[in-house]
Amino acid sequence: MKNKIYYFTGTGNSMRAARIIADHLGDTEIISMRTEPKKESALDCDVVGFIFPVYHWTMPAHAVAYVESLEINPKAYVFAIAMPSFICGIACETLANILRKKHIRLSYGNLVYSVANYAIVYPPFPPAKIRVPATEKKLKAIAGDIKAHERRAYPRASKFIRRRRKKVMSPYLALQKYADNPFTISNACVSCGLCSRVCPCSNIELVEGKPTFRHHCANCMACVVSCPKRAIGYEIKGEDRALLNASSTRTPLVKIMGLPKNRKLYRNPYITAADLTKDRELFNG
Ligand SMILES: Cc1cc2nc3c(=O)[nH]c(=O)nc-3n(C[C@H](O)[C@H](O)[C@H](O)COP(=O)(O)O)c2cc1C
Ligand code: SF4
Ligand code: SF4
Repeated sequence: MKNKIYYFTGTGNSMRAARIIADHLGDTEIISMRTEPKKESALDCDVVGFIFPVYHWTMPAHAVAYVESLEINPKAYVFAIAMPSFICGIACETLANILRKKHIRLSYGNLVYSVANYAIVYPPFPPAKIRVPATEKKLKAIAGDIKAHERRAYPRASKFIRRRRKKVMSPYLALQKYADNPFTISNACVSCGLCSRVCPCSNIELVEGKPTFRHHCANCMACVVSCPKRAIGYEIKGEDRALLNASSTRTPLVKIMGLPKNRKLYRNPYITAADLTKDRELFNG
């Protein structure tokens, strides 16, 4: 395969982006970062892309680990697209640094502002009907750039974000290891297993029919927005609230984390829950 695009996605924005670019390029395979990187080598590729959301002003940890383990042709045209909602932070720089250690240059980097999907903290915003068309338009323009092998300096964090990042985001990054403690499964669950199949981190196992979380969760929201019975909730209980350090002013968002029954959920309108279960797709163009 000449071209490969690796994507990490929770709610489909990054998968949609991978599909648009692959369709434009032709002869392109898109591969979920749910796969095993050691088996997905890009050593024989002419074009290699990475597409991912932004979590806590950087690249999701799962995507970092994936790219670190991936073999890549050092002569390939390598591009990256970050899909933040508002603040990209050091996401692209983080990828560029991983690649640099492998003696690979990031030829093209860009970001596409997308709908914010962190359902356990806020409802989706800006409204999908406004932001999705703008996102689609920008992705088509980027696809043209990539097809032409244009070079573009990747986006970097502003001085302000760089200064604030450690203080503001470090506590949240430290809390990631407890991120799935508060998930609840209601009696509405019909043990269909879809939550497990959409999870990009293989973090959910069905134990006697009940989804059980394995504590390497990215909080990507794929399971939450895919459950056909809306059986997945998020409730920080007493002992976890202490654990999550909710009383600390350093993690103010933890105070409002939860999933009210009437919270609007977002999944990219072009991506179905079944799409989120896929590991790979081929686009012949
Ligand atoms: C855990 C988490 C943390 C996030 N942190 C940020 C952030 O720091 N900056 C930002 O712009 N968007 C942030 N977002 C929003 C996502 O980056 C954005 O909605 C993205 O397009 C989702 O992509 P996906 O649909 O491919 O999962 C965050 C979302 C989640 C779930
Ligand atoms: S997707 Fe929903 S209904 Fe299906 S197993 Fe998971 S929690 Fe239960
Ligand atoms: S358990 Fe749910 S929120 Fe956590 S990584 Fe898997 S799909 Fe995403």
